[in-house]
Amino acid sequence: MLKLAVIGATGAVGRRMVSELERIGPLNFELGLFASPRSAGEFLPFRGRSVEVRAFELSEMKNFQFALMSAGGDFSKQYALDIVKLGCSVIDNSSAWRMDDRFPLVVPEVNGGLLAETDGPVLVANPNCSTIQMVVSLEPLRKFGIERVDVATYQSVSGTGQKGLVELDGQLRSNDLQPTVYARRIASNVIAAIGEFDREGHCVEELKMVNETRKILGMRDLRVLSTTVRVPTRVGHGEAVTVTLQKEATRTEVLNSFKSAAGLKVYEGLDGFDVPTPQDAEGSSDVLVGRIRLACGETRSKLLQYWCVADNLLKGAATNSVQIMNLALAKRY
Ligand code: A2P
Repeated sequence: MLKLAVIGATGAVGRRMVSELERIGPLNFELGLFASPRSAGEFLPFRGRSVEVRAFELSEMKNFQFALMSAGGDFSKQYALDIVKLGCSVIDNSSAWRMDDRFPLVVPEVNGGLLAETDGPVLVANPNCSTIQMVVSLEPLRKFGIERVDVATYQSVSGTGQKGLVELDGQLRSNDLQPTVYARRIASNVIAAIGEFDREGHCVEELKMVNETRKILGMRDLRVLSTTVRVPTRVGHGEAVTVTLQKEATRTEVLNSFKSAAGLKVYEGLDGFDVPTPQDAEGSSDVLVGRIRLACGETRSKLLQYWCVADNLLKGAATNSVQIMNLALAKRY
């Protein structure tokens, strides 16, 4: 019997990994749930029964064929390679291995073909949430050639995990609650920085969007200019994207391209009721794209603007991980 593990099962993403396995995972498999010793003995619902969460033990991983992992970068650096050595493939949601050339960084709609090149137990990195939704929307634009991408993000607090949700909810209840997770108060505010800064003034999230987008699209020199912003929404990231195309396109050509792409839901209306919001994206495994327009006054243009939203915990993390595993399984079994 196929055995699958979720490591970090009690976290914001881990819980969605369990529910996505229930929804789109294989028909028959045994599920093992792991977290820190703090959560040992908790139960999570899965396909009509309760599965006990156990404290992670490396040696147990030899009993599993795949582990979906979302327990943070430090944990992943410490254990992921040893888990693979035990014969268990790892799909890792942390940033630990994403830019390591030895391992594929996969969004199935874009570069899922890479999994066909792997053999035996593998380590596959799941990209950063804001990168995933952007590359799903960029893929259908490749036919026009992509010269440059400018993006500003509007990222919900669940991107920081359970603790981000707790901080926002606490501050919404009390004006006196001081920030501990974020540098500044997040309730009724926006913070135009996510993660540490480098010496040039880019923050970590912006560097992830630049470097991961290049790796996934296989375009090492692509210019990507990113500004990443934390906003006080609970779930779902928004992104305002401007793409400089190599060839001119009409709005209709772009719409048709988006409409025939996998993983995208297109909002083509021209009024404020047809603009996808993070609340529309919550619970959906698609990337929702709207506000699709060319540079002002141009009917054919190389300058395209649009807005996209996705559930950062689903397509931005758990759904993408399960899709990667399904692809790897389809190849192997
Ligand atoms: P726990 O809930 O027991 O702390 P989030 O990103 O939402 O904060 O979730 C992180 C997940 O990673 C949680 O399930 C957490 O378990 C788990 N985790 C953190 N540290 C460890 C560890 N050392 N061993 C196993 N799981 C861990």
